[in-house]
Amino acid sequence: MLDIEKMNRHLQDLGGTYILNHARRCLVIAKKLAEEENLAYDEDILTFSCYFHDISAFKPYRPEGKFDHAEESAKIVPALAAEYSINDAYKISAIEEAVRYHDKCGQGTANETKLLRNADAVDYLGFIAVARDFSKQHEEMTKAIAALKKHLAEFSALLELDSAKRMAEPRIKKLETFLREFEEETFGLY
Ligand SMILES: [Fe+2]
Ligand SMILES: [Fe+2]
Repeated sequence: MLDIEKMNRHLQDLGGTYILNHARRCLVIAKKLAEEENLAYDEDILTFSCYFHDISAFKPYRPEGKFDHAEESAKIVPALAAEYSINDAYKISAIEEAVRYHDKCGQGTANETKLLRNADAVDYLGFIAVARDFSKQHEEMTKAIAALKKHLAEFSALLELDSAKRMAEPRIKKLETFLREFEEETFGLY
């Protein structure tokens, strides 16, 4: 049984509610997708993958220089699993796969991998994407808008499951509307 309280504190200490609630939303979304698609999943694998898939983006796990955050996060999984008393080799390798491929379209075979990737993409589309990019770039609106446009393209391309596409569709429309209206209101000065 996973110690969710400890996992919550772990993420909160690493990156505040930004990362904690992203992880929790991913889990909520992944479970909704699983239900709609009738996809079976292991509770521990899905939960642990959703919680720690971005962990390498945060100190002290963050490597120096440019890095692939999904790959680096996957490398941390065995140590993290030990910290949370996950000893089952199958579960550990399934978590590694889900984390490693959470931003790599079509890669990996497990249901948990697909569920995390599609849930993660949905959580970077819509008004939540605006909040996420503006909170990261609170002094640089130009960079926030550039990131938003990049994320809209990248995360839309990661949607594979029909249920995820359905969930994302209104979010994409809202995001496109936001970008259009924002450009108009600011006369391009932001
Ligand atoms: Fe990520
Ligand atoms: Fe993520």
